[in-house]
Amino acid sequence: MAKEKTIYVCSECGGTSPKWLGKCPACNAWNTLIESLPESTAPTRNRFASLAKTAVVATLGEIDAVDMARTPTGHDELDRVLGGGMVEGGVVLIGGDPGIGKSTLLLQALDSLQRSGQNTLYVTGEESGAQVALRARRLGLNNSQVKVLAEIQLEKILATLEAKLPDIAVIDSIQTVYSDQLTSAPGSVAQVRECAAHLTRAAKASGVSIVLVGHVTKEGALAGPRVLEHMVDTVLYFEGDTHSSFRLVRAIKNRFGAVNEIGVFAMTEKGLKGVSNPSAIFLSQHAEPVPGSCVMVTLEGTRPMLVEIQALVDSGGPSPRRLSVGLDRDRLAMLLAVLHRHAGVACMDQDVFVNAVGGVRISEPAADLAVLLAITSSLRGKPLPKGFFAFGEVGLAGEVRPAPRGQERLKEAAKLGFSVALVPKANAPKKPIEGLTIHAVERVEQAMEVVRGLS
Ligand code: TYD
Ligand code: MG
Repeated sequence: MAKEKTIYVCSECGGTSPKWLGKCPACNAWNTLIESLPESTAPTRNRFASLAKTAVVATLGEIDAVDMARTPTGHDELDRVLGGGMVEGGVVLIGGDPGIGKSTLLLQALDSLQRSGQNTLYVTGEESGAQVALRARRLGLNNSQVKVLAEIQLEKILATLEAKLPDIAVIDSIQTVYSDQLTSAPGSVAQVRECAAHLTRAAKASGVSIVLVGHVTKEGALAGPRVLEHMVDTVLYFEGDTHSSFRLVRAIKNRFGAVNEIGVFAMTEKGLKGVSNPSAIFLSQHAEPVPGSCVMVTLEGTRPMLVEIQALVDSGGPSPRRLSVGLDRDRLAMLLAVLHRHAGVACMDQDVFVNAVGGVRISEPAADLAVLLAITSSLRGKPLPKGFFAFGEVGLAGEVRPAPRGQERLKEAAKLGFSVALVPKANAPKKPIEGLTIHAVERVEQAMEVVRGLS
């Protein structure tokens, strides 16, 4: 038999090329082509066949817009990111680093769903049934009625789903599942994509809610093609520092709820526990204010959270370093330029390190003002006053722009006992907030002036 000719498949878009190229000819991404075997079967052509039979043409007005029935998982923080709970026929993809707690959280969720009368199935491809049982004991889930299937072959998993018709099934993980119909190796791009497509179709056709667990590559993307993210209804990512006990689950896509919502968990001996008041975690405990620390209020999804931003400015070598953990590094460079140009504070020959405490990642520009204040505080060796916090976006022209939903942020900080605020002018409330002194500014230089007057 002639040796099968290999082809190269792009791990981003699934495009193919007969020879290896540095750049994918279809999506122009670099270094994404992976050696693979060509697929001779043609099941892909019919991938959406079962969806087609439900398609009836109707006007939007005719269609009943009933809200999806959701089944709460019994874990408030997980329900928060799911948008209220599991949806019938919904497919959730949950990604994260190894050992961050994906299997633990899902086992806990399945157990409470089973206890509330749902029919559950845990398909394990990474661990044996005995290992899963051992984990359940460790979690204190004795006599758990969750059904476990140790299987990695897609056809057998689909047959079991059809026969048992559970309400909710977890596939841990999608990378271990393989189909006999395909020639490429388990874990390859083609396998992961086809298996996920089959499972998604099965979920839509049968109404089973499916949770797919996915691995994350070193670069932080879900291993396997990005099309996986397009296929499913909800994409959740586990974040956080594996060295601390806190874990964040962030919704980056949700057809049934808000994105950027986050759930906060603490890893304990008895598994993951939801943290309903996360503000306290992201503040480190200083008895007295220290230089280089500024608290900000960030708004993740629907919930304001207080996070401490720390900065260390220290004399650097000939090419000083700018490092940031949990914040955007390019934004840090931009802020340092604004600080120099508009407030006359130079850090050119200094190493600058910034960190968001607690392993939280802040992507919103409302952190700008707090970053600048932490940097100048470290540079001068002067702490900000006790009970101080700030938020606001800083523009290239040195202007301080408002953050969305400023009132909620101010109220959250006041509730936690903070007393002095530095905020953009447009965020200053019309009515005073009890216990809060608010300094409203329009420009960076003004902000620096206010702080100099306070400390
Ligand atoms: P796990 O849930 O297997 O992670 P993943 O499926 O994402 O790879 O890993 C959980 C980690 O947490 C593991 O290192 C052990 C630890 N752990 C606890 O601290 N407490 C517990 O109750 C359990 C079950 C695990
Ligand atoms: Mg696992």
